[in-house]
Amino acid sequence: MALYSEKVMDHFRNPRNVGQIDDADGVGEVGNAKCGDIMRMYIKVDENRVITDIKFNTFGCGSAIATSSMATEMIKGKTIEEALKLSNQAVVKALDGLPTHKIHCSVLAEQAVRAAVKDYYDRHGIAYNPEDFKEIDPEEAHGGHCGL
Ligand code: FES
Repeated sequence: MALYSEKVMDHFRNPRNVGQIDDADGVGEVGNAKCGDIMRMYIKVDENRVITDIKFNTFGCGSAIATSSMATEMIKGKTIEEALKLSNQAVVKALDGLPTHKIHCSVLAEQAVRAAVKDYYDRHGIAYNPEDFKEIDPEEAHGGHCGL
């Protein structure tokens, strides 16, 4: 059996929504100093708090690219509240799984989305509970593990 699903390979080879949004409403960056993997997420949000556009850049492994690509597809057109509910497990499931030692890479995408939403809240003076975002910690997000 192949190590990576066809969906993972597809999103790795043809990642969706790669790039940046110059006039983004929120930008989130998370990364890990140990392996140097960085993820940056840009969101454009309309007056109904719907994410109308989302782009990402990542300097990371194939699994990080595939999970970010899938995550952006799942979030586009959703409200920011719905986006916050997207878990890395849901993204991994949508990709038909990842090898166990690569699950931590999917957390980077989830954390980048959350960081972008937090930035959107900050820029627009929208109150939120800081406790809801305290897990945005690059070291925790990555777990310090590095491999392909
Ligand atoms: Fe660091 Fe995948 S995100 S190895």
